[in-house]
Amino acid sequence: MASRIPLVAGNWKMHKTIPEALEFCEAFVEQMPSPPAGVEVAVCPPFPALHPVAQRLRRTKYWVAAQAVHESLSGAHTGEVSAPMIGAAGATGTLVGHSERRAAGETDTQVAERVKAATDADLRVIMCVGESLEVREAGETDGWLTAQVTSGLALLDHAREQQVTIAYEPIWAIGTGVVATPDQAQEACAHVRLVASNFVDGARLRVLYGGSVSPDNAGELMALPDVDGALVGGASLDPDKFARIVEAAT
Ligand code: PGA
Repeated sequence: MASRIPLVAGNWKMHKTIPEALEFCEAFVEQMPSPPAGVEVAVCPPFPALHPVAQRLRRTKYWVAAQAVHESLSGAHTGEVSAPMIGAAGATGTLVGHSERRAAGETDTQVAERVKAATDADLRVIMCVGESLEVREAGETDGWLTAQVTSGLALLDHAREQQVTIAYEPIWAIGTGVVATPDQAQEACAHVRLVASNFVDGARLRVLYGGSVSPDNAGELMALPDVDGALVGGASLDPDKFARIVEAAT
């Protein structure tokens, strides 16, 4: 089996001002000066804190990523941020297609264009996919994930495939405290890997689980054969909880 380096990424969503973000960095780095051997760790601050956090963590091995990116390089797109701007701010990656962005109007086409724009600009991408409770209860999860993975990777340049990670995040598990069972997480992540194999080297692709990950459940989830880490929302806001989740990946 190909060995994949686990990634634990913290998605801060719309939390933390610049001073709060820097306070997090101080506390986190004091507790965990660098990622444990064999684990990669990323934080995804909101845009205003991106540059300060990237500066603060520059000499560490932590990577800093944006939460969203626009598909154009520049132009009349009020409120949007381009991939080159994210890179120039010192970040090395971005989330694309988080379900909260999709719910706010991000389309499948935009997800594909944004994966392409970000990877072409040398950013790493964590592309998020996941089904609603309605889709799961209708027994349509596999088909839903097939469609999201297929359309999301459709424009990806082959030379860029190693920059891509996929996060499986069932919408019903995000911020609810209702975590997927190990069977559900394993089955969905394996399916995501299988479908993604039409576009990238599936054996090397990292597939993360996200949705109510906590220090209590992280170890069991990340030990699953097709789960290569976690995308953590709520629990990533607290340096101590986030460090415990990172430790669970070792
Ligand atoms: P949660 O969020 O860990 O708070 O459920 C996960 C996410 O939305 O990435």
